[in-house]
Amino acid sequence: MHEQATQVMLHPVILAVPDTMLTWTGRRKVLALSRLARAAARQSARRAGGLLGRLVKNNDNVPLPSNGWHWSVAHKPAFVAGVAGSAPLGIDIEPIQPRSRGLLDKIADPEEWRLGDEDEWHLFFRFWTAKEAVLKAVGMGLKGLSRCRVLTIDDPCCMTLTYEGKIWTVHQSMRHGHLAAVASDGLSMRWRWPVHHTTTGH
Ligand SMILES: CC(C)(COP(=O)(O)OP(=O)(O)OC[C@H]1O[C@@H](n2cnc3c(N)ncnc32)[C@H](O)[C@@H]1OP(=O)(O)O)[C@@H](O)C(=O)NCCC(=O)NCCS
Repeated sequence: MHEQATQVMLHPVILAVPDTMLTWTGRRKVLALSRLARAAARQSARRAGGLLGRLVKNNDNVPLPSNGWHWSVAHKPAFVAGVAGSAPLGIDIEPIQPRSRGLLDKIADPEEWRLGDEDEWHLFFRFWTAKEAVLKAVGMGLKGLSRCRVLTIDDPCCMTLTYEGKIWTVHQSMRHGHLAAVASDGLSMRWRWPVHHTTTGH
């Protein structure tokens, strides 16, 4: 059965980077993480009843639909993430770790900061992953950052953003010291995280 026409749920998949890869560096590591993230996107498509074919990006690095399915990936040293669905979407994952205070003003303006009363660094990572997920969904990447705004913080796992007039729902999930975010057209999520993760890689 093909869920594409009536898709109401996304199945983002997070995979742990195998211990053997944690010490790899440079291009070898980047390529391996890219491949693993694509495996996560393929799993996500299968869980949604679809099948990704060749995964190709355009000249701006934007993933192109495959077999009619949109897909998005993210990779960090210890975890990769992938999602696929019938409409444009974006995914990001970030390790929760100390960052320079200069980034606080870069990621959101005072009006956006006033939307939440959570710990400022927790909110920072929520804003960051949410905006990167939206910026991938619209195919802009970081160069669209100033046009991407948080409108509401709906609950501890969901916020609403806008990019040039279009509304995006971002769902978030935190495990293993990482925060993941998926931007979509308001679909609900069934997250798939690794159950255990015991490496010292993060
Ligand atoms: C797209 C962008 C957001 C990627 O972020 P990143 O953290 O470097 O990398 P991620 O692992 O999250 O995502 C990488 C994937 O994004 C995808 N991607 C890249 N550009 C994209 C674009 N314009 N639109 C959609 N997806 C894009 C690619 O599929 C890439 O994976 P691949 O190379 O294996 O194909 C990019 O604009 C960027 O350079 N970000 C820098 C992060 C940063 O400094 N953030 C600070 C916030 S204050």
